[in-house]
Amino acid sequence: MPDVTFSTPLLHKNVTVYAVAGDTHTILAVAEANKIPIPHDCKDGECGSCLIEVMPLDDKTMGAMLTEKEKAQLKSMGKISNDEIRRAEVDDIPPKYRLACQYVVRDQDILVTFTGEPGGA
Ligand code: FES
Repeated sequence: MPDVTFSTPLLHKNVTVYAVAGDTHTILAVAEANKIPIPHDCKDGECGSCLIEVMPLDDKTMGAMLTEKEKAQLKSMGKISNDEIRRAEVDDIPPKYRLACQYVVRDQDILVTFTGEPGGA
């Protein structure tokens, strides 16, 4: 089971939860289940309010699995370049920014940071 650690100024300290890999829970769903206040609105990859920064905490190589909506939204926000998308999809190098409502938990320990402002990872 992967550890997902949430870090935000809204919490007094970082919170680590154990997520179940292999199901379809998004980071946003895991956060909501654990009362972690990631801002969100559409839950469908279209508003950008759930922007998070994700840092892998282990050496596993995982494809980024960006959805088309996530790619389009992150590009419109200036949070991902075509080069970063290519590196994610071809070289398995994860991009820095993701959308919590689109990122499905994988078998990898990660640090998730967000400011608490909608779209302000
Ligand atoms: Fe709107 Fe994630 S909640 S993009």
